Amino acid sequence: DAGHYDNGGYEHYLLKEISEQPDTVARTLRGRIDDRFHIAHLGGLNMDARETRSFRRVKIIGCGSAYYSGQMGAQLIEELARIPADAEPASEFRYRSPVVEPDTLYVAISQSGETYDTLAAVQELKRKGGRVLGIVNTVGSAIARETDGGIYLHAGPEVSVASTKAFTSTAVAFALLALHLGRVRDLSPADGRRICEGLRRLPEQIKEILTLEDRIKELAKKYADSPGMMFVGRVRGYPVAREGAQKLKEISYVHAEAYPASELKHGPLALISPELPTVAIVPDDELLDKNLTTLGEIRARHGRILMVGHRTSEAADDCIVVPKNEVELDPILLTIPLQLFAYHAAVALERDVDRPRNLAKSVTVE
Ligand code: AGP
Repeated sequence: DAGHYDNGGYEHYLLKEISEQPDTVARTLRGRIDDRFHIAHLGGLNMDARETRSFRRVKIIGCGSAYYSGQMGAQLIEELARIPADAEPASEFRYRSPVVEPDTLYVAISQSGETYDTLAAVQELKRKGGRVLGIVNTVGSAIARETDGGIYLHAGPEVSVASTKAFTSTAVAFALLALHLGRVRDLSPADGRRICEGLRRLPEQIKEILTLEDRIKELAKKYADSPGMMFVGRVRGYPVAREGAQKLKEISYVHAEAYPASELKHGPLALISPELPTVAIVPDDELLDKNLTTLGEIRARHGRILMVGHRTSEAADDCIVVPKNEVELDPILLTIPLQLFAYHAAVALERDVDRPRNLAKSVTVE
């Protein structure tokens, strides 16, 4: 209930929650990074080293934005811990009679801890003997109680219906979990150190991104009257694109579609025209050249492009340049300008930013 919390002088809770992220990310990290051994301390997992080493797969479940943060988490776990990992909507998982395996680590994500589809999936997993961790914001919530252990986000209450700070904190919690799983398997001390140092840089870098707000506001106004927008990203950029599209449609009601950049030519390229601008997530990673080629393909079809990445490019009409971290952690930072973009698009279109139509903050019914 928004009435209980101070909006801190911000016009909307959403902007307050976006702006809090340097602090909320720092809180998710607090006390959990060990700079001596370059490991993560996650006491709440209730797992000894032997059990931690025993998992051969990780399956992540959550709904909506929680699911997209889980997709980011699956990539972090595969990259850092080299354990096959994937994410699935909890709402689908619970209905499809999943095979529950003893050597799979299940991770349920929920800001509220009360989402019924996620809770029902956790209960089904437990019934079948699955080992389930929770990545949850609300202490003592149903999903926190039902899981065998987990990581609390400590991001503080999230009031606005659209999730922002819980999303970034969940991704940070996954980076810690991936570091933890990796360092008891074969992640080197040097890579552990690189990730620890990268994690420590995040709050300051988020602050830097927040200083881009005026520019992002201008861009949001420029693009907000489009009938729809395409969001594309490759591999690490894809969950960023999905969450960016989700934010835009939830609060501005502008139709937004997210696609892997690599899939454009297999169908949705037919949609590209000056009326359907593209937000392209283009990190400076090993896929940079491929992504720039995709921008060229969009441009050749007269599509307008807003590029979000670590450099500017002539292939794009507009660019938002964010600070660079380690490649594995960059998706967390790339998400933040898209939150501001959706927020300012919604404001420009005079939407009910904190309480978008047809949505509830937590969906506690089937
Ligand atoms: C996020 O912006 C959405 N409002 C929604 O997708 C949300 O993330 C989802 O319903 C899951 O909520 P939870 O994290 O509280 O379980």
